[in-house]
Amino acid sequence: MKRALSISCLWICLLVLSSSVIMGQDNHLDITPTPQSLVQKNGHFILNSKTSFAIGKTQRADLKKVAAYFQSKILYSTGYNLNIKNSGSSNAISLQIDKSLKIGNEGYQLTVTPKKVIVKAKTPQGVFYGMQSVMQLLPPQIESETIIDNVAWEIPCVEIKDEPAYGYRGMMLDVCRHFHDVEFVKKQLDIMAMFKMNYFHWHLTDDHLWTIEIKKYPRLAEVGSVRRNADGSIHRGFYTQEQIKEVVAYAAERYITVIPEVELPGHALAALTAYPEYSCTGGPFELRNKWGVEDNVYCAGNDKTFEFLQDILEEVIPLFPGKFLHIGGDECYKGFWEKCPKCKMRMQKEHLKNLEELQSYFVKRVAAMVQKRGKQVIGWDEILEGGLAPEAIVMSWRGMKGGIEAAKQGHSVIMTPTDHCYLDFYQGDPTVEPNTYSMLRLQDCYKYQLIPDSVDASLIMGGQGNLWTESVPHYRQVEYMIWPRALAISETLWTDARLRNWKFFVNRVEQQFERFDRSGVNYARSIYDPIIYPHWDKEHQLKIAMKTEIEGLSLFYTFDNTIPDIYSNMYTDTLSIPKNASMLRVAAYKRQEQAGRLIDITIDALKKRAAEGEKK
Ligand code: ACM
Ligand code: ZN
Repeated sequence: MKRALSISCLWICLLVLSSSVIMGQDNHLDITPTPQSLVQKNGHFILNSKTSFAIGKTQRADLKKVAAYFQSKILYSTGYNLNIKNSGSSNAISLQIDKSLKIGNEGYQLTVTPKKVIVKAKTPQGVFYGMQSVMQLLPPQIESETIIDNVAWEIPCVEIKDEPAYGYRGMMLDVCRHFHDVEFVKKQLDIMAMFKMNYFHWHLTDDHLWTIEIKKYPRLAEVGSVRRNADGSIHRGFYTQEQIKEVVAYAAERYITVIPEVELPGHALAALTAYPEYSCTGGPFELRNKWGVEDNVYCAGNDKTFEFLQDILEEVIPLFPGKFLHIGGDECYKGFWEKCPKCKMRMQKEHLKNLEELQSYFVKRVAAMVQKRGKQVIGWDEILEGGLAPEAIVMSWRGMKGGIEAAKQGHSVIMTPTDHCYLDFYQGDPTVEPNTYSMLRLQDCYKYQLIPDSVDASLIMGGQGNLWTESVPHYRQVEYMIWPRALAISETLWTDARLRNWKFFVNRVEQQFERFDRSGVNYARSIYDPIIYPHWDKEHQLKIAMKTEIEGLSLFYTFDNTIPDIYSNMYTDTLSIPKNASMLRVAAYKRQEQAGRLIDITIDALKKRAAEGEKK
């Protein structure tokens, strides 16, 4: 897939120059990701119980489905059961396919007048995205799960022309560290679709759980999907093939392609616990019950390993009609290969010079099986080591360098570098966030230049946010980690980089919070928390700089253990620590109201942070 961008300079000039463009000044113009071109006009369309969908005389089944999808969403909150008709000259939402539009296949054109809403696109997917924009133009109450009365369901008059910058706009969910059931996965697909994301990368197998039923190898589900945690509790979960089909179909109705990930040669302990004969040592094993990566991996010298994987893939491939299959490839420990007679024999026979080449042999052999069945393989950037498999797509996670290297070799790339896309990282101060590691604030997600200067842009398919779930025990926490950071990721993938604007984006994020509240989606409000930078000055005195992630907040602090309020000291410049102080307490205020969480941090903890900061 190539970069699907053909935005004319004209649009951008229009957007930047036109005085009629008003974005972010009206709550109803908060579309995320920002459209490539939006011109607001006077007036508004009012949606009422007599409004209908008009889908044309031919009553295309695909457009009817799009209409029905939004019909049911609108019914929930308004109580209006809109008719789906052939045509309607007024009070209608007209959905039209127009192949002659000068726009990409996922693009749409939206015209709202006081009489009519017209969504035109080359494909039903484009119409679906146009309707998602219509939903965001309606008041936030439209997201309510129950009927809300006394709302003027106004849609401001606009002219929008929009299409994505990148064809691949993804989210990855790890269901192996903590399993998440079908209903929850479906809910996430609903939310992804609202923000025009189109790939769901489902991390289905790992050291900690195997989560997909394979009929030929029943022990994968029986044994591989049940983990005894270190505290003796049991964590379990797998999807039947019927459930997988159900999710894939559900995603397709939202124009989301599901990409399964079957990990190899490493991250395979759950499979090896069920079938230890495919390891180098023969086991026995237990599912890994501490975090981190297991050393035991599939034996690369045993042909039976490849038969086993082939059988698995034969069952997996038909369940996922999309063109991609992810085969992992990351973090494979090679110590057992080094000692294994079969692996050593393989290296000799295949003239492999080192263990990286053995890994490459493994990946290439499996990639060939997958490709033979008409799929393209995706692998984490370690698949570069020892030589890339032909046609393999590289998912660059250890920064962008793997992606750059792959593109230089002419391979397609999906960018998901840790420092912009890892949603399992902290998003706010660790003293108030659930325990995890590293740091990725909303701003870090948003300030992301997807295409490095040195590569052929057409090889960068897009990117995705990744949520590994070691520290994410339940679905509310999954949502907390994903939103709002995935809003930033969606905008970096959809909206042309020249149109991105942090301040405007944050305004829209704040509006989106109200919509999340109404629809029962959890999210983090970490943007309202203080950011604290302890450091040593030249005289080795501890100093504290502070800031806020967003504008319009003031920080108030104390060093005397009292709770700060707007009568406390307001932060203006770097602080020294008063003698005898043992604790800094600080909170951000928006006008008179406390905006975020109170952060309490001991001076000792600040010293430790300063020392850690110096080491970096
Ligand atoms: C990864 O985060 N190990 C791909
Ligand atoms: Zn071996």
